[in-house]
Formats: sequence, C-alpha cells, structure tokens
Amino acid sequence: MTRYTEIPVLKNSGSSLPKVDFNQLEFGKYMSDHMLVARYADGRWQDAEIVPFGPIPMMPTILALHYGQSVFEGMKAFRMKDGKISIFRIRKHYERLQRTLHRMCMPDIPFELFEEGLKQLVKTDAQWVPDQEGSSLYIRPLVFATEERFGVKISDEYLLIIMSGPVPPFYPRPLRVKVEDRYSRAAKGGTGAAKCAGNYGGAFYASKLAKEEGFDQVLWTDLSPELRIEESGTMNVFFLIGGRLITPPLSETILEGVTRDSILEICKMEGIPVEERSITAGEITEAHASGTLTEAFGAGTAAVTAPICSIGIRGRIIDLPAYSESSLCNRLQKIMNAMKKGEQPDVFSWNTIVS
Ligand SMILES: Cc1ncc(COP(=O)(O)O)c(C=O)c1O
Repeated sequence: MTRYTEIPVLKNSGSSLPKVDFNQLEFGKYMSDHMLVARYADGRWQDAEIVPFGPIPMMPTILALHYGQSVFEGMKAFRMKDGKISIFRIRKHYERLQRTLHRMCMPDIPFELFEEGLKQLVKTDAQWVPDQEGSSLYIRPLVFATEERFGVKISDEYLLIIMSGPVPPFYPRPLRVKVEDRYSRAAKGGTGAAKCAGNYGGAFYASKLAKEEGFDQVLWTDLSPELRIEESGTMNVFFLIGGRLITPPLSETILEGVTRDSILEICKMEGIPVEERSITAGEITEAHASGTLTEAFGAGTAAVTAPICSIGIRGRIIDLPAYSESSLCNRLQKIMNAMKKGEQPDVFSWNTIVS
C-alpha cells in the first residue's frame, strides 16, 4: 500500500490552463497538464510517475497496434458544492478494468496504483476540475501492449497512462436510435463485456450507416429473430413500460455500465420498480401501441442519462412521448448529480474525496 502513496511528479513548465475557456468546453477538446504513466515489465508494474501531458515515444512494432491489446476506462471527477473534488466510483471502475484486463490476457493492476494514481493526478491538476454547473473532469485510464515484436503473441510489456480533461455539461438532446438487425457489436463468447478498444472500432460501421439514415445511435441487439435489445453506442439502455423500469440483464455481450448500476441502486432506494430482464423489439412495439411505453433512455458516464425520442425498428419509426422536466430520466440524472456534488448524502459511499 505504501508504495504508491507518493508518486513522483514532474511538473509541466507552462500550464495550458490560460488557453482554456471553461464556458466553451467541448467533450475531448482539452487535456489537463499532466498524465500518470506506469510501465509493466519483468512481471511487475514499476516506475509510476506523473509527468507533463504530451507525446510518448513508440516503435511501429508495439503489439497493441497490431493485435489489439488495448483497453481503457472512462470516469469522472467533480467539483463539489464545498469546493472539494470527488472522484466517482473508483472501485467499480477498477473492478471492470480488472475484468477487461483479464479477458485480454493483460496483467492485473494493483488497486493502490489505480486509486492513488487517480487521486494524485487529479490533485496535481486540481485547477482543471471545472466549477461551472454541470461540467466535470473526464478521466481516461488506458492500458496497452508495448512489447516490440512482429509476431502474434501476448505482450510481456504494457503501459498504463491516466489522462484527463475538462468536459462540458451534457444538455439532453433526445436521441433517435435504430434497432440494429444486420450488424453485431458483440458475439456470445466474445469480448463484448470488456472495455477493449477493438469493440469500438468494430462498432463504427453500423453507427455510420445508422447516422446516414438520420439516426444518432444504434440499439445493439442479439440479432435473433426477436431482436433482444442489448445496449446503445456507449450507453446501457432503460425502458419505462407500465411504470416499471426495464433494462437488459448483464451478459457477455453487454458492457456492465457503472451508471447502469448506479441507476439500479438509486431506483431501489427511491422505490422505483426495476426489472433486469430481456426485452425484444416486439415488446417495445407492442408497449408503444398500447400506450404503456412512456420513456426510453441511455445511461453512461458521459451523459449520465440521455432521453430517446424515437426508435427505428425494421423500417418503422416509433415516437416516444416528449421528454420533460418530470421524466424519470431527468429525475434520476438529478439525484445522481446531486450525490456526486455533495448536495445529497453520499449514502452508497460512491465519492472519493481528493484532499
Ligand atoms: C459500450 C458501452 N456500454 C455502456 C457504457 C456505459 O458505461 P458507464 O456507465 O460505466 O460509463 C459505455 C461507456 O463506458 C460503453 O462504452
């Protein structure tokens, strides 16, 4: 535990902060001044340090570029109402990273390295955590294979880089989604439950086609004749039918979202009936026809919740009731944001305060 409590910091000589207009942020546009770097070699993680954010030297033969051993996480830090900084659900993100690393034959990362690395990096770049309403610091831990070899093999060397950048509030613009009936994001026995880079590259094509048809995202399915819904883009999905909130159960073809889990916990706390069960395109169509489908929304770290306004199913468009302030999607978003900012008690101990 003691090994990672004081990670050496090499400070940036000139901060880029003056170049940033915190009132005009864009997702992914600005990077904070520093990054954490640790390398894995000789069977252990070593040389963890915080250094100025910038280019990293690499040979074209590093295995990640050829054979795809590259995984990541996406998480956030918030400026709380008392001015302190909190990082949301470190343990839950760590557990998912561990499962992903395991699935991709990559080495475990000690929890202390992950937690202390995050805390010390965020502390070093504390001024980058926005205090504008709804803005936050997005944090991206990335692990990839760095062994230099031409042949196909599991790498013996890796790099962990944790980087961050301020991101703006998410203004919910209701999404048009297309139930995908041709392409698949994840196959049974595949890597769908892992947060590995290849899953995203493989998903681009169907998303691009859906965008050309006028949709914002695809709703992935299992491609069975019933089209069981899985998830959407970079979000898990929820449907409110007859007052019950339904989300597909976790499986090896769905990424276990931290936001999904947080929503399920909050629903239990608030007495909102939830069901983790499979839901088909047919059930959505019928619930819409009978007037019981009142809401659908995506849930993920970037947006928290994102309302869905229409769903394309095999050439037919289903329009959902208009999203409003009183939508469940909005209520859940507000509760979660209030917890992250310390405006509501952190009853689940989800916040790690960076002192
Ligand atoms: C494929 C996919 N599904 C779901 C999610 C939602 O996960 P989380 O709530 O942990 O951000 C994400 C985002 O990370 C994702 O990339």
